[in-house]
Amino acid sequence: MAVREIALLGDPVLRNRAREVEVFDEELTALVRDMFETMVAAEGAGLAAPQVGVPLRVFVADVREEDREKIRRLALVNPTLVWEGEEEARASEGCLSIPGVSEVVARPAEVAIEAMDPGGRPVRVEGDGLLARVLQHELDHLNGVLFIDRISALKRRMLLKKYRRLREKEEM
Ligand code: NI
Repeated sequence: MAVREIALLGDPVLRNRAREVEVFDEELTALVRDMFETMVAAEGAGLAAPQVGVPLRVFVADVREEDREKIRRLALVNPTLVWEGEEEARASEGCLSIPGVSEVVARPAEVAIEAMDPGGRPVRVEGDGLLARVLQHELDHLNGVLFIDRISALKRRMLLKKYRRLREKEEM
């Protein structure tokens, strides 16, 4: 088990479409295990394989809804969005690959995803609230899409300015 390095904005691995997983082997199991460990260490609610430099269609999520007892810990392979609700939800979103900044993003409030688990068994996940948001955010990562692509150009410019300032401070 190992915490892997998280790719940051500007790394091309974040902008490419990830490949389908074809082999469900020990390497995949190890990847998923490392991704959980990396996500927990970074205190994230989700992490996609491209974020650890692996261009495969895999993501993990660990969603704790404060108003509910429910905790969803998921590892999804080759996920497909099969349904989205008509209602839209707006909530603040951040990303481990763009640390320190966040912005309100509008997304369908409810979605259903079909995928495989790391053992190659088909799974279907339906969710609303934070779970729906995390599922869509991580699915975006597999298509090279980041949450900053889903906000207005003006908000994006302001967010990137703030992000660059934070990075500069960190490098000093
Ligand atoms: Ni992200």
